Amino acid sequence: MLAKRPPMGWNTWNTFGDAVNEEVILENVDAFVKLGLREAGYEYIVIDDCWSKKQRDPETGKIVPNPEKFPHGMKYVSDYVHSKGLKFGMYSCAGTRTCDDYPGSFDHEFLDAKTFAEYGCDFLKYDFCYMPDTANGPLMYRRMGMALKASGREILFSACNWGSDEVHKWIRSTGAHMYRSTGDIHDNFESMKKIALSQENLLGYSAPGCFNDTDMLTVGMFGKGHVGIGGCTEADYRTQFGLWCMFSAPLMLGCDIRTLTPEMLALVTNKNLIRINQDEEARPPIESHTGWDNSDKRVYFKHLSDGEFAIGFFNLTERDQPVQTNLTNLGLSASSGMALELTDVMTDEAFGKFDEYINIHIPAHDCRIFLAKLVEA
Ligand code: GLA
Repeated sequence: MLAKRPPMGWNTWNTFGDAVNEEVILENVDAFVKLGLREAGYEYIVIDDCWSKKQRDPETGKIVPNPEKFPHGMKYVSDYVHSKGLKFGMYSCAGTRTCDDYPGSFDHEFLDAKTFAEYGCDFLKYDFCYMPDTANGPLMYRRMGMALKASGREILFSACNWGSDEVHKWIRSTGAHMYRSTGDIHDNFESMKKIALSQENLLGYSAPGCFNDTDMLTVGMFGKGHVGIGGCTEADYRTQFGLWCMFSAPLMLGCDIRTLTPEMLALVTNKNLIRINQDEEARPPIESHTGWDNSDKRVYFKHLSDGEFAIGFFNLTERDQPVQTNLTNLGLSASSGMALELTDVMTDEAFGKFDEYINIHIPAHDCRIFLAKLVEA
């Protein structure tokens, strides 16, 4: 089964945009392996938009890699990725052109899926620009879903229609394994926060086999690269990564892996956070913040498959302040005689035992995340 757990990997778009080419991909793959991202669970190396020539081959009708960007062709890149024990991903679009104006797959779905299979492709991100007025969005995803099944290769289908047509209601039926539910992320706190909060009530639709994709991470970009508009602090990135993990969202890194700092590497390879993200039941969290000021503070509580829990306190506001929850909101009644014992995911240190409420002071934009166990009060 593909996408049994939220897919993890790296995508070229956030940092490289149109400047994607063989050299930067191979260098990023090398850095990826050297830094231990593969061992941490990251798997797919995905080439986003802007990899092809501006027009199809007039004779074969096929999309052709741009020979200046990919002098050895796409199979070469795919073989390199596979030789490192990783999986290879490509990008196309359901409309006539891609979002950055390269050939789209509209009316060429089966040919393109076969071409991608010939490259040794394991993952296809499928965008939504240049859709003809007469085209039906859900049908276009069904069509590529079929084309991938007919391609002769097992290919993870990553739909990207930005939440249009209430995508969460029908996307699983197309065979897709993940679905972009929002517009594009930019590397700033407001963009990330808007995306996360827009999905908090739709997470019940995300489950093994097909996950709500809140977009590629900007963790580690620090304002550099294609979507590096504004930039984030380390606290912003802790919050972004923490939210994606609590949401069971795909973890597709988008920074330049060659320049990942030790702190950000430690964050994206944190074994507790990855365990929370990759939990096989992928349950949506309960939101249970109970403060006098409910603006943009969140407490997310998530059941894990082994009987433990994750609980995250997020201060999405602009000032340092307490974030609190009443444990009754999580189902823990006062008469139960039970308490939650917390362990900090960042330090593995015990944080204490709580049987009534939890109140933690959290700096602006930051978060605290814990694993929790039920114990006698
Ligand atoms: C859309 C997608 C982005 C990226 C670009 C490429 O905007 O949402 O993730 O793939 O297209 O042009």
